[in-house]
Amino acid sequence: MDTITLTKPDDWHLHVRDGAALAQVVPFTARQFRRAIIMPNLNPPVATTEQALAYRQRIIDAVPIGAEFEPLMTLYLTDNTPPEEITRAQDSGQIFGVKLYPAGATTNSQSGVTDLDKCTQTLAAMERVGLPLLVHGEVTHAHIDIFDREAVFIDEVLTPLLARFPALRVVFEHITTAEAAAFVTAAPANVGATITAHHLLLNRNDMLVGGVRPHNYCLPVLKRERHRQALVDAATSGNPKFFLGTDSAPHSRSTKEHACGCAGVFSAPTAMELYAEAFDAAGRLEALEGFASNHGPDFYGLPRNQQSIRLERREWQVPADYPYLGETIVPFMAGQTLTWMVHG
Ligand code: DOR
Ligand code: ZN
Repeated sequence: MDTITLTKPDDWHLHVRDGAALAQVVPFTARQFRRAIIMPNLNPPVATTEQALAYRQRIIDAVPIGAEFEPLMTLYLTDNTPPEEITRAQDSGQIFGVKLYPAGATTNSQSGVTDLDKCTQTLAAMERVGLPLLVHGEVTHAHIDIFDREAVFIDEVLTPLLARFPALRVVFEHITTAEAAAFVTAAPANVGATITAHHLLLNRNDMLVGGVRPHNYCLPVLKRERHRQALVDAATSGNPKFFLGTDSAPHSRSTKEHACGCAGVFSAPTAMELYAEAFDAAGRLEALEGFASNHGPDFYGLPRNQQSIRLERREWQVPADYPYLGETIVPFMAGQTLTWMVHG
């Protein structure tokens, strides 16, 4: 197979930031994807329907003329999100999920949830109207090792949460462990998961052997090879619970190449090429369309896209950097050779 044509894919987990950053990052996603679930971790967070609708318009203003791209908005869950906000979100027709950041888990999570018990009424409202909870699945306790935080989250938070709200629709975002893949596989159909390209392609050696590689640092952090293999198995299995979410998270070069570097991999410019690379390496290119184009809309109850994209087997080099906020941004796998290319 040297050319593959797929139903146009969607990105079910994306960070595009705000202000001047939008014009520099949105076009990359709009070229490859028809829709994307937009993460609400701005500072201040996108916590209300009104804020989300204003943010949506700013994103649309950054879509290049001629591109067909639709941002699917989300709300940032806080200890104080009232149940009425869920009704407003649902009535707007533009909000497709509510994001749970455990307070302190990652970039701009300081307004996140400190105790899910504070959100009981709001979660009950989400369960009632069918609005998905999008979960950053890591505990934040200082005494839990960073490599164990996802597995502990399953036992301490996710399992009890689903016991209390069995019909709540949950997307376990950017899963990184064999435990998470097994949990989602065994869960009922209201539980799905996104998987990033970088967690399919790299393990923690790629971040730490031969020098610290800040551009491979993200959260949840890369794990051991056996976890990467479990993610590849899940993504390429054809199981409709697993779908594409890049977690492309732009940070400027100076904030990544820093003594306390930010977490985030900027994969938007080469997203579909990276997934093709991972599925090809597993000998499972035929499973790419389900994962990238079908399982996500089916889970969210949205129509599959009508358009298509074409990928060609052709070697090309990822650029060293792109302009970003008066300096540069380094894309994932900068300077390396990829063997798939999105056509056009
Ligand atoms: O690596 C990450 N970057 N993980 C997250 O959870 C947040 C994201 C960001 O917003 O930079
Ligand atoms: Zn994210």
